[in-house]
Amino acid sequence: MLKVINLETTYNDIILALKGVSLEVPPNRIVTVLGANGAGKTTTINTISGIRKTLDLAIEDGSIEFEGQVINEREPHQVVSMGILQVPEGRRVFAELTVDENIIIGSYTLQSRSHYLRNRESVLGYFPILKERGSQLAGYLSGGEQQMLVIARALMPEPKLIMMDEPSLGIAPLVVKEIFQIIDRINREKHVAMLLVEQNANVALSIAHHGYIMENGRVVMEGPSEVLKEDRDIKEFYLGLSEMGAKKSFRDVKHYKRRKRWLS
Ligand SMILES: Nc1ncnc2c1ncn2[C@@H]1O[C@H](COP(=O)(O)OP(=O)(O)O)[C@@H](O)[C@H]1O
Ligand SMILES: [Mg+2]
Repeated sequence: MLKVINLETTYNDIILALKGVSLEVPPNRIVTVLGANGAGKTTTINTISGIRKTLDLAIEDGSIEFEGQVINEREPHQVVSMGILQVPEGRRVFAELTVDENIIIGSYTLQSRSHYLRNRESVLGYFPILKERGSQLAGYLSGGEQQMLVIARALMPEPKLIMMDEPSLGIAPLVVKEIFQIIDRINREKHVAMLLVEQNANVALSIAHHGYIMENGRVVMEGPSEVLKEDRDIKEFYLGLSEMGAKKSFRDVKHYKRRKRWLS
C-alpha cells in the first residue's frame, strides 16, 4: 500500500536527515518504526505527509508510492485526500473547543450529515469516555484522553492509512496499554493500515505485525514483530530488559560492543 524506497531528505539543503530509508506498509497491517530521539522517525512521516515547505525539508532521492502512485511532489492536503492521515506528536487538540467540536473539525470532508453521524457513532464506540465528555473543553481532558481524541478525529474521514507519531509519549503506562489495545481493535475491525512511530518498542511490538529500527537516518534492522521481540540486540537497545545488567558475561559484552559498532 505504502512503499518508501531509498528516501533521502535534507533540512535547509544541507542537513541530511534521511540517508536512504526504505519501508513498506501492506494493506490492513500495523507497521512500527522504532528508534531513539533524532533517528529520523518524524522526518520520515512528515516527508510522506508532504509537510516539507514549512520545515525546509526536501526530498533529494528516492520515492514514496501510495497505491501504486508516486506521491513525492504532493501537497499535504492532496496526501490527506488520498487517504493518508497523520496524528502528529504531542496530541494536538483544539484546547478551546469541545470534544464534539474537535470531532467535527476532523469531519469536514464528509459529504452529508448522516455520513458524519454514522462515522461519529462508529468512532466513538471505541472511545466511550469521549462520548461522555462530548461537551467538555478538550484542553481539560487528561493526556490519555487527548491522545484518544486526536486518534478519533483522524478516523472520522475514514483514512486508508494512519501515521501516528509517538502516541505513547508522556502518557501513563496503563493508559498507554489501553490506547494500544484500542488501536489494535481499530486496525482489525476497520482495516485501517497503520504506520506507528514509537520509542516504546515494547508496546509497539505488542500490536505491530512488522517493525523497522531506525538509527541516524537509516533503517538498521527490520523483521516481523515476533522476531524483533526475541532479538537480543533489540532487547538490549530498546526494550530496556536488564539481561545485560548484573549477570554480564564477557561473551555478552563482546557481543554488545560488536553490535554497538555495527549500529553506530
Ligand atoms: N526542522 C528541522 N531542521 C533541521 N534539522 C532537523 C529538523 N527536524 C529534525 N531535524 C534533524 O533531523 C534528524 C532527525 O530528526 P527527527 O526526524 O525529528 O527524529 P525522531 O523523530 O526520530 O526523533 C535529527 O538529527 C534532527 O536534529
Ligand atoms: Mg520524532
